[in-house]
Amino acid sequence: MPNPTSLFHPVITLPDDVRADRYARLVGLDSIKARLRKEAAVLADPSTLTTWAAKNHPAVTPDDQAITLLKDRAPLLLFAGDVGSGKSALAESFGCDLATHMGIEVELWRLKLSTRGSGHVGEMTGLINSAFEEVTCEAKLGRNYSTGKVTKVTIMVIDEADALVQSREATQMHHEDRAGVDAFLAEIDSLAGSGNPLLVVMCTNRLTALDPAVKRRAAATFEFGRPNDEQRRQVITTAFKNYDLAADTIDKLVIATGPQAPDRCGFTYSDLTQRLVPTAILAAYPDDAITTDLLLTVASDLGPTPAFNDQASA
Ligand SMILES: Nc1ncnc2c1ncn2[C@@H]1O[C@H](COP(=O)(O)OP(=O)(O)O)[C@@H](O)[C@H]1O
Ligand SMILES: [Mg+2]
Repeated sequence: MPNPTSLFHPVITLPDDVRADRYARLVGLDSIKARLRKEAAVLADPSTLTTWAAKNHPAVTPDDQAITLLKDRAPLLLFAGDVGSGKSALAESFGCDLATHMGIEVELWRLKLSTRGSGHVGEMTGLINSAFEEVTCEAKLGRNYSTGKVTKVTIMVIDEADALVQSREATQMHHEDRAGVDAFLAEIDSLAGSGNPLLVVMCTNRLTALDPAVKRRAAATFEFGRPNDEQRRQVITTAFKNYDLAADTIDKLVIATGPQAPDRCGFTYSDLTQRLVPTAILAAYPDDAITTDLLLTVASDLGPTPAFNDQASA
């Protein structure tokens, strides 16, 4: 058996300043952040529901039907949508907000993509079982089982999750991969209602490629999209805050990075932060200042990342 610790990147304890800052800088995700905080808090520690009920609905008992329905859900959260829209960034930073909100420690466990294995019979199933076993052992330590008090929440992030649990309906799918999906579903089912303070977050650019049974089990699915005019303006303004750009330069850049025709899409968040900004700076460096023309030329040369055609690859 492989060393189970190698299935994960180094574990990160939250909150930390770097990730808190990254979380705060994510634009346009306020409603996702608000819903995510609630979902994560009640999935990680259902006793918060009992506290809420006692305050607002005193007749509700701990075995209340409505609360049991919420408690029994699998602690699985799906982040789906376009590339470069903040799925990975949010998955790896929302634990900061959760830690502060709940007043506890959060541990971030990021599964390595290599967990998919090399396709040897039984390998993927074994890797999935090992990964869940290790993370569950750790998560159990976050709850005092005599008092029921939660002191630490463990978040397991499975990025690019379609690589791990693609739909078993795919015709080309190897039987070993199907077995892996079955193993994954069994692990998720065993977490439902277990009371372990553990959350599993899966990110994917291709929601339709995920196995329907995985999608069905998710307590919540969060959809991420490309930035609108206002959101692009916010990213651009923040990035060039100290560059003394004229207001109409920003206006023009917002338009130049938006959809250039009704059926086209505009720049993604990462097109702005990881392509436009560095390219513009390097175009001016080392001798020139950044000008309106330079910015508009760079925007037009780069163009947006094409929309991911989910259907074509499903
Ligand atoms: N909502 C956002 N607000 C600000 N920057 C963002 C946002 N989404 C993505 N970015 C930028 O794009 C980079 C890549 O985002 P990432 O989370 O990896 O995208 P993906 O949705 O493909 O996982 C981030 O590190 C950040 O710089
Ligand atoms: Mg990502």
